[in-house]
Amino acid sequence: MSIETLSDQELAVSTQDSFIEQANIKDQAFFQKASQNRLEFWEDRANELSWQTQWDQVLNWQRPYAQWFINGKLNACENCVDIHLKDKKNKIAIRWEGEDGSISEITYQELYDRVNQLAFHLKSTFNVKKGDRVTIYMPMILDLAIAVLACARIGAIHSVIFGGFSSQSISDRIVDSESSLVITADGGYRRGATLPLHQTVHEALKSVQHHCKTLVFRHLNNDISSSWNDDRDTDYEPLRSQNWEPVNPEPMDSEDILFILYTSGTTGKPKGIIHTTGGYMTHAKYSTRAVFDLKDNDIYWCTADVGWITGHTYLIYGPLANGATILMYEGAPDFPDKGRFWKIIQDHKVTILYTAPTAIRAFMKWGVDYPKGYDLSTLRLLGTVGEPINPEAWDWYFKHIGGENCPIVDTWWQTETGGIMICNLPSLAPSKPGRAGHALPGIQADILSPEGQNVETGGGLLSLTEPWPSMLRGIWGDPKRFEDVYWSRFDTYFAGDGATIDNEGYIKVLGRVDDVLNVAGHRIGTMEVESAIVDFEGVAEAAVVGIHDDIKGQAIQAFVILKEEMKETETLESDIKAFVANSIGPIARPKHIVFTPELPKTRSGKIMRRILKQLAHHEPIGDTTTLANPEIVTQIQSKISNTSK
Ligand code: WT7
Repeated sequence: MSIETLSDQELAVSTQDSFIEQANIKDQAFFQKASQNRLEFWEDRANELSWQTQWDQVLNWQRPYAQWFINGKLNACENCVDIHLKDKKNKIAIRWEGEDGSISEITYQELYDRVNQLAFHLKSTFNVKKGDRVTIYMPMILDLAIAVLACARIGAIHSVIFGGFSSQSISDRIVDSESSLVITADGGYRRGATLPLHQTVHEALKSVQHHCKTLVFRHLNNDISSSWNDDRDTDYEPLRSQNWEPVNPEPMDSEDILFILYTSGTTGKPKGIIHTTGGYMTHAKYSTRAVFDLKDNDIYWCTADVGWITGHTYLIYGPLANGATILMYEGAPDFPDKGRFWKIIQDHKVTILYTAPTAIRAFMKWGVDYPKGYDLSTLRLLGTVGEPINPEAWDWYFKHIGGENCPIVDTWWQTETGGIMICNLPSLAPSKPGRAGHALPGIQADILSPEGQNVETGGGLLSLTEPWPSMLRGIWGDPKRFEDVYWSRFDTYFAGDGATIDNEGYIKVLGRVDDVLNVAGHRIGTMEVESAIVDFEGVAEAAVVGIHDDIKGQAIQAFVILKEEMKETETLESDIKAFVANSIGPIARPKHIVFTPELPKTRSGKIMRRILKQLAHHEPIGDTTTLANPEIVTQIQSKISNTSK
């Protein structure tokens, strides 16, 4: 029988006794404490951090505005670095592997030195002050983690941009955040090729009006003279040999902003999600230890890029706050061959692996011979994040990577939630493939009907119904949007996902119910892609929908209306695809484009995406009587029958 057709009870996979016995969280008392006295529970978690000044009130909740650990003072960098100098200064903090196989590692003491050195120069050379915004656009190298921590140390608000984003996306984010400095590198490696990061920043800054400097790290050591500007650019290399002094960790109010991270929403403009210091760090430290069962001797590998929230919380802040040894890899999973991840696990004796379902589905397609060729026996826990994991992929991960010996944590959360919200803790309950499980102790998640009623079992909309420490505090520069997007549907936080809950309380997250796509675990707004397409000369209108994709979960299909004078040439489809990839980033490249004279619209002029979706999936179209132009449906259908499924 296929795992996809098993019932909920048949699906349950119990956890190995050997894991349960050694787990960090062993008994239900932890859960009970959290539900009996939530605030006290969170105070206990906050007390796991080092505070410069104790808070005097746990929570001030004026829906939708939360303040946690009021008047407490702390520094995130101090909590990730300084606190470990006492007994872990010679422990490896980060072990890095480059795509070409080069390896470097730094101890907590070395991390302290390098973070302080950079923090010193940020202050003395660039005059960066507490509250200033610093954009970071870097490859996955040690200096990226160091840059993030150096900003945190001096109280600068970092805004990390994923290295795959285009110059246009970068300039939008620099302008929106009014960053005064961009930290970048000459370039990075990806699948045997190089990414021209400095060149891209150079292009981006052409459309930034305000004064913005750059600090450039040398990684490729290539010639970047054509994009170099002496008035604007500073090379970090010569600064490395200059004198520096340790910089005191800036006392940050618990509610001072730690970072902004841009993510896609339902409008064309990405939103800068705000996270503050005390609450975010509390949850990062606690959830990493609880979910990944992190121990002192683990080698922990989160494959996400620091440009996404997963990289912020579970590559940098959470593991380092726990004094872990983390692995950081710059490169592709299939370079030089498709066994690269397994070789890394073998070589570094990785014990905990956290990756995305889209990667697992790609590994499945590549076949079991790749992982079979390596010793993966050091692994003891596996995690997934970013999108629903289909039971078949879960089963493959469990058998072929975990050797049926590692529990899997399927973790549901979002950029906005700051950390993991829903995840079955395998030491407390069996896992169910495809179900993220229960809310973490301290978190209250409910499935609501469209009217806002609690659904005991069945389907509905996922809502977080009590405030939590690492919740977003707003959208940078747009408080109204914050209220509208998350708090107007119900009087609790609405996440934008649909979900079901079974009679044992396991939550299965189905995916977005708004116009946000999830392509290979990356969030992209349909409007963002549509406005990029419309910027292409000769395009009059565009509508974008998500279609099913075996590996990426979803892919983008666009329906495009050309202007009268525009001819449908042979290269037009690929030109538009390249244009979108160029204006947002390769992750936004449409898979198919269908040219059509009109889009199906209601009489009031609204595009009927439901119909476009059905058309794209070659499904029968239901009722079209509400359309102003029902005849367009058959026209599009006949066009689509020519595109591949
Ligand atoms: C959206 C958030 C959280 C880090 C990575 C993505 C989807 C995330 C799961 C999961 C089902 C998931 C949701 C969510 N999602 N994790 N375990 N099961 N769906 O962060 O870019 O903010 O995207 O990713 O749809 O709303 P993000």
